[in-house]
Amino acid sequence: MNKSLVKDQSRFLITGGAGFIGSAVIRFLINETNHSVLNLDKLTYAGNLESLKDVADHERYHFEQVDICDQENVARIYREFKPDIVMHLAAESHVDRSIDGPAEFIHTNIFGTYVMLEEGRNYWNSLTGIEQKNFRFHHISTDEVYGSLGAEGLFTEDTAYDPSSPYSASKSSSDHLVRAWNRTYNLPVVITNCSNNYGPFQFPEKLIPVVILNALKGEALPIYGEGNQIRDWLYVEDHARALYKVATEGTDGETYNIGGHNEKTNMEVVKTICNILDELVPEHPAGISHYDELITHIADRPGHDQRYAIDASKLQNELNWIPEETFETGIRKSVKWYLDNEKWIEHVSSGEYQNWMENNYELREAK
Ligand code: NAD
Ligand code: TYD
Repeated sequence: MNKSLVKDQSRFLITGGAGFIGSAVIRFLINETNHSVLNLDKLTYAGNLESLKDVADHERYHFEQVDICDQENVARIYREFKPDIVMHLAAESHVDRSIDGPAEFIHTNIFGTYVMLEEGRNYWNSLTGIEQKNFRFHHISTDEVYGSLGAEGLFTEDTAYDPSSPYSASKSSSDHLVRAWNRTYNLPVVITNCSNNYGPFQFPEKLIPVVILNALKGEALPIYGEGNQIRDWLYVEDHARALYKVATEGTDGETYNIGGHNEKTNMEVVKTICNILDELVPEHPAGISHYDELITHIADRPGHDQRYAIDASKLQNELNWIPEETFETGIRKSVKWYLDNEKWIEHVSSGEYQNWMENNYELREAK
């Protein structure tokens, strides 16, 4: 799509907008553009409208609590809202949960994506002229579809799919469906595959918020195995900017990898957080004088991918995107955000969350 064809006041249908990345995309759209947004979200344990409280009253923001697997309501929303651009983020997103219970991942990530595509196709077929020409379905995916790297090399857009977990297999399946709807039915699509995100409003089941919050409580910092696995970390607001660029300027049918050029071992990540906390919260919990004393190695994740790293040169060269944050600046901002937002943390830490966390770590006996 040519950039000039995206109207200044387009209608964006965002699925999963109450989640970590979706809420960053919506905050960006409301604060930095003139577009209207409909947030379609089921509000699972991972969805929290408090993440959108700063934009919730804006006249360009709308919300519908709907499951993407509910075909009738999805069709109604396409008909009524008449989106120009769909950004599909709704998914079950946590690898450990997918290992303990894959069914929900298969249903939401695969069947739900099918519903979004099929009802998107029906809606797109009902359009004419410039509206039909400018419609676009943007599928948001992960670098985990490419499997694990060895010590060398980077994932490119041509890397073969080789997923290891039920989560990454379900996201791979959804990517294949999106390409099939493009090749078979000509539905205009773009796909992005991004590395690990971190930053404000990330649900405290992923590594970085788990470590920050456990450290503050004086609880164990659980490291799966040796902690020498490598992830390529991207600050969530950099991801949101990249997604907007691809949604509005990317070429139909193309895939773009998004990454932060920030490869770190899990141990490096955890120790960096501990050092920042030593500086910002010098009153340590009882019994320790440095937060890294809480590091505890536990049983490894089954099928644990060793290394992810992204070659984002296509996005940089074609769409002129580079991340603004380094890991050092982004992680400091993130730690400060969790220190300043106790209420949000309290509210997302519901009973269901407590049960899941206890079971997850009990299953992984101390090494
Ligand atoms: P998240 O778990 O924080 O949020 C997911 C959101 O989807 C929640 O608001 C949840 O309520 C909603 N949702 C779940 N099932 C739904 C359903 N059936 N119908 C409607 N809404 C539903 O996830 P996230 O970390 O923000 O990830 C968003 C997307 O980005 C996912 O597709 C994920 O695969 C992808 N992604 C994530 C990362 C990462 O590091 N977090 C990296 C690359 C790609
Ligand atoms: P995570 O944040 O779950 O993201 P992903 O599995 O999608 O990469 O995990 C990041 C890395 O941290 C991964 O290698 C698993 C590891 N990890 C731990 O060592 N301990 C933890 O408590 C968690 C949640 C993850």
